[in-house]
Amino acid sequence: MSDTISHIDWESSKKFLRGIGLGTSIHSAPQMPSTQASAKEAARLGAPHGAVFVTDYQSDGRGRRDRAWHSIPRVDLTFSTIFRLDVATRHAHLLNLAAALAVAAALEKNFTGSRDRVNIKWPNDVLVDSNKICGIICEGSGTVEHLDYAVLGIGLNVNRTEENLPTPDSPDRPRATSTLVSFGKKLNLPSILADVLAELDILSAMITTDDGRRQLVDEYRTRCSTIGKRVRVISDDGETFGEAAGITDDGELLLDIGGEIVVFDAADVVHARVQ
Ligand code: BTN
Repeated sequence: MSDTISHIDWESSKKFLRGIGLGTSIHSAPQMPSTQASAKEAARLGAPHGAVFVTDYQSDGRGRRDRAWHSIPRVDLTFSTIFRLDVATRHAHLLNLAAALAVAAALEKNFTGSRDRVNIKWPNDVLVDSNKICGIICEGSGTVEHLDYAVLGIGLNVNRTEENLPTPDSPDRPRATSTLVSFGKKLNLPSILADVLAELDILSAMITTDDGRRQLVDEYRTRCSTIGKRVRVISDDGETFGEAAGITDDGELLLDIGGEIVVFDAADVVHARVQ
């Protein structure tokens, strides 16, 4: 029997990407265990800034805290991008914020009038009407003074129908959605990839200057729905409850625990449900 599955032409993203630093080399395959694993290995071996790893079907995707990330072949977008930026390693965390803003902006470009429905749960979960549409992971390597590389992995639920949305693995994790379910329109995967990369190109470059970082975090604060909410914060040190008081200039979460302010740079946040 002949193979009738037509694979996605990821190279076609390039026609939307003229003149930007990301996506100049696109490494694609019909199947990869994890674009993040492939990109990290390539980065370790010296692959350049802007290289993108993308696949029709990611069979062993990984999220934060080593959770599994499931995607449907040729329906969801899964890709990872290598960054080599001239910054101190502590600023690399801001790539999480830049990526969440880039996805939000790309959604807004495709779905006019969606701005009020799309927001971000700190640090980098993109939500539509409080449901998670996108997961982001950022991993890297460097010295204190200099980031060698960072690899940003993005998983966006795109053309999934309602019955194919996953059930959250615990009641306090957000429900999932897709662009099709939330906005009622199918998207072309290479085109939405190009849209996210174009936004990410501009936003990621902002982390290389003091002014850029300030502007990036100011914009992030306008879109972060965690600020002002009662939240549960799960970090390597355990669980803490408090009110999200704000975001620092380095993109960390300020948690007000009965009047004492505690700073978190990496954690999972659960928004308290409004009764
Ligand atoms: C999360 O919400 O925990 C982050 C999920 C990140 C998933 C993406 S999909 C593309 C890239 N490859 C992976 O294995 N993970 C990331």
